[in-house]
Amino acid sequence: MKIKFSKVRSIKKKYRISCCTLIIAASIILPLIVFGYFETPYSYDVELSTTFKEASAVPIGVAVNVNKLRENEQYRDLVIEHFDSLTAENHMKWMYVEPSENQFYWNDSDYIVEFAGNHSMIVHGHCLVWHQQLPSWVENYEGTTEEWELMLKNHIQTVASHYKGQIATWDVVNEAFENDGYRKNIWYEHIGPDYIKKAFIWAHEADPDAKLYYNDFSILKGDAKFTTMIEAIKELLDEGVPIHGIGFQAHITDTSPLISNIESTLNIIDDLNLSYRVSELDISMNQFKTHREYTKRISDSQCERYYEVTNAFCQSPYLTGVTTWGLSDADSWIPAFNDRIDWPLLFDSNYQPKPAAQCFINVLENNYS
Ligand code: G3I
Repeated sequence: MKIKFSKVRSIKKKYRISCCTLIIAASIILPLIVFGYFETPYSYDVELSTTFKEASAVPIGVAVNVNKLRENEQYRDLVIEHFDSLTAENHMKWMYVEPSENQFYWNDSDYIVEFAGNHSMIVHGHCLVWHQQLPSWVENYEGTTEEWELMLKNHIQTVASHYKGQIATWDVVNEAFENDGYRKNIWYEHIGPDYIKKAFIWAHEADPDAKLYYNDFSILKGDAKFTTMIEAIKELLDEGVPIHGIGFQAHITDTSPLISNIESTLNIIDDLNLSYRVSELDISMNQFKTHREYTKRISDSQCERYYEVTNAFCQSPYLTGVTTWGLSDADSWIPAFNDRIDWPLLFDSNYQPKPAAQCFINVLENNYS
C-alpha cells in the first residue's frame, strides 16, 4: 500500500509540474501569437493612384531633414512629388537658428524655404518659442525679467522678419500647457505666463500676414490638457491676441486616442471658428514593443487608422493642412526616442509607399473630390 501511495503522489507531482510548465509556456507564447510576434514580414508592392497633394484640397505637408533633402535624391524626389507644404523638422528651432546670442545662422532654414519656393510649396515655420532644443547660452542666461523678454522678443522678431512673406503659418508657441495649467518651463519661470501672449503679439508685429498657431501634443483626445489649453487660448482671443489657429501634433497610436474622442475635440474647435492644422501626424504601430516585423495585419490596421483619423480631420471646414512628421519610417523620430522598432509613416524605410499611403489618398479623395 505504502508503495502505491508514493507512486500516486509522484505521478500527481509530475502532472502538476507539467501542467505548470504548460501554463507558463502558454502565457508566454499565446500573447506573442496574438500580437503577431511570429508573423512573417509583409511584402507589398504599391503603386499609388495619384499623389497626396493632388488628392487633397488642403496642403499636405512633411517635416523634412535638411541634410537628406540636400543629399538624398530619392528622398528629395518623393518630397517634391507628394507634398505642397514643408516644415523643418529641426532646423528652424532656436538652437539651430540662433546658436550664439544674436548670431543667427540661416543656411539650413533658408535652404528649406528656397526649396519650397522652387517647388510651389508653402512653408510652415516650426517653432519660435519652445522649452526644448535651446542653445546653452539661453539655458544659462542670467538677466532680469525685462532682459529675458528682450531676448525672446529679439529672437522671435529676427526670425519672423527674416522670413516675412515667405512663411504661411508659424508655430509661435509650442507645448506650453500641462493637464493642470501652464508648463513651468524656462519662459514661464523667467517671464511668467504672459510670455505666451507677448510671443504672439511680437510675431504678428514682425510678419502681419503670417497665420499664427499654438501647437501641442496629446490634445486630440480632448481630456484635461486640451481643456486647460483651450480655455487659456480662449481668454487670449478675448483679449485680442493674434492667435489664428491650433496645431494638433497627432503623434498617435493604432489604438489611441479613440476616434470618437478625436471627433468631439475637433467639434469644439469648429464651434470656436478657429483654424487648425494637423501639424505632426504619425501613427505608431508598436507602442508596446510587441512586434518585430511589419506584418499584413499591422499594415491593414495602419491603413484603417490613417483612413479613420484623416476622415475625421477632413470633416471640418477649419482644417488648414495635414503634415506628416517625417517622410519615411527610416526618418521617424519615434524609434530612437522610444528605443523600439516602429513603422509610423506612409513610406517605408526603402522610400516605397506603404498600403497606408493609398488609404491616405483614398480618404482625401473621398472627402475632397
Ligand atoms: O544633430 C545631432 C547630431 O549632430 C548628433 O550626432 C546626433 C546624435 O544623437 O544628434 C543630433 O541631434 C538630434 C536632433 O533631433 C537632430 O537629428 C537630437 O539628438 C535629437 O534629440 C533631436 O530630436 C528631435 C526632437 O524633436 C527633439 O526634442 C527630433 O528629430 C524631432 O523630430 C522632434 O520633433 C518634435 C517637435 O519639434 C515638437 N513636437 C514633438 C516632436 C517629436 O518629439
